Amino acid sequence: MPKRTLVTAGLPYSNGRLHVGHIGGAYLPADTYVRYLRACGQDVLWICGSDDNGVAIEISAMKEDKTPQEVSTQFHQRQKLDFEGLRIEFDVYGGTHQPHYQGTHEQLSREFFGNIHEKGYFTKKTSKQLYDPKADRFLPDRYVRGICHHCGDHETHGDQCDRTGAIIDPLLLKNPVSTITETPAEIRETTHWYLRLNEFEQPLHEWLESKRGTWRTSVLNFALGQIKQGLPERAMTRDISWGIPVPLDDPDAAGKVLFVWFDAPIGYISFTAQLLADRGQPLDSYRDWWASDDSEIVHFIGEDNTVFHALIWPAMLMADARHSLPTQVVANNFINFRQDGQELKVSKSSTPAESPVWIEEFLKRYDSDALRYYLTAIAPESSRTAFDPADFIARNNAELVGTLGNFVNRTLQFAGKYFDGQVPDPAGQTDADRQHLAAAGPALEAVGQHLRAFRFRQGLEELMAYARRCNEHFSERAPWASRKTDMTDCAAAIATCIHAVQVLAVLCHPFMPGAAEKMRAQLAAPSTGFNWDVPAPLPAGHTLGEAQILFEKLEAGEDFA
Ligand code: 2FM
Repeated sequence: MPKRTLVTAGLPYSNGRLHVGHIGGAYLPADTYVRYLRACGQDVLWICGSDDNGVAIEISAMKEDKTPQEVSTQFHQRQKLDFEGLRIEFDVYGGTHQPHYQGTHEQLSREFFGNIHEKGYFTKKTSKQLYDPKADRFLPDRYVRGICHHCGDHETHGDQCDRTGAIIDPLLLKNPVSTITETPAEIRETTHWYLRLNEFEQPLHEWLESKRGTWRTSVLNFALGQIKQGLPERAMTRDISWGIPVPLDDPDAAGKVLFVWFDAPIGYISFTAQLLADRGQPLDSYRDWWASDDSEIVHFIGEDNTVFHALIWPAMLMADARHSLPTQVVANNFINFRQDGQELKVSKSSTPAESPVWIEEFLKRYDSDALRYYLTAIAPESSRTAFDPADFIARNNAELVGTLGNFVNRTLQFAGKYFDGQVPDPAGQTDADRQHLAAAGPALEAVGQHLRAFRFRQGLEELMAYARRCNEHFSERAPWASRKTDMTDCAAAIATCIHAVQVLAVLCHPFMPGAAEKMRAQLAAPSTGFNWDVPAPLPAGHTLGEAQILFEKLEAGEDFA
């Protein structure tokens, strides 16, 4: 295993609340991975923060009649609380325009842009774009509407035909209208700096090919497919006022800012730098993580971010040539929401504000581990999946309550009732007990293998397979019967099951940290962190903590509006 691993998850735009799809797609698997690596004794940094710049924030602010700073601060704080509520525990949750991080972030972003510019990888180019004279601004593609130039008979947005999905050239739309002010759009000329991605096609191709066997094929196929089609140059500057001013001494750069997708991934670096500075280390100590062969960099993202993390960001890193390329890009598909047999996208406009698919609402009603469990169980690792409220409740009740919780509870209740809340003497352990004890190591290894390979869903299935074996063992050993006939045998069975609870606490820790801690409290085990090893059995006579319910049973038909 490498000496250090730096883990990131896509920076969420700070203009909306987080929903279950965001969490299951990137932040939860990343947090699970971090917890696992730490349990294996690795040195890990877990980096995230809000993506505060760019047109999406600016337009949200315009619509809400607020400043972009107000919008980004409000949602940065909301999202931070959502993550905390789900026990997604970053080492740093920065923000590209949040006061404590903005200075370092802008400095590193300017250095990046200036360096790539000096190396000659930008083309300065003037082109025509649609303009809203009333709002006095150029229009990003998705803020224009007009008659589709492919179909010719219906209105569509300026990025994709709403009917066929075909790519739209916004300049070819008939009767284009700004969706910001609903006034006709004009064509005007503007100058921007374009990164010549075609110059990186060959090195990107070689680098991606070197990842075969370790990256998900969907990511590789997508990125290699884009290279095959040819990578067009992409503008890395924008005509808006909210963002990082283009750091060039050129009159054409006046009033322009860096493209949000240029500065956002630099946030991964600038938040690392700020975190280490806050820990009292020199600002450039971030290079131990970002420019060292001893360090691995793992990006967790949603599928729509693949082009940026597998192609554009690596091309920026190649052009800048001062940092390491990502070791791994783990992209998940989207999670939709299933309602009345239909799969819907969660969205601000169509999903009720009080629906528990919004994390803020979920946390008011349910336990975070229940969501962590369900979102891992349906993780969209190879195709899109859907959050199904009935399935969420059924799995919570059958698997968490009925299997995992049931085993832990029946074991600890039994010890409480018949062994004075102490670990009984294991002296009479049978072959079946010894076999069960011996299953702990392979269970840890099997789950660990899946987690190291980013197969979170299978990792969780292995954990549940072990929990089922624990329940079977309890039933086969029937301590309720041996209690009346052979107390030595009964004690051995319960001691074996208590050890299995210790193992389950370790196995649960990456997936459901709350449940793992509750188990540890009920065992009254020393709290020295969770090590990914078979724990030493608690000694006979050790006094256990109080037995408590691990998972709450939920009523069918609860309020997922
Ligand atoms: O798609 C998004 O939500 C972007 N804000 C993700 C940015 S990831 C990164 F590069 F910072």
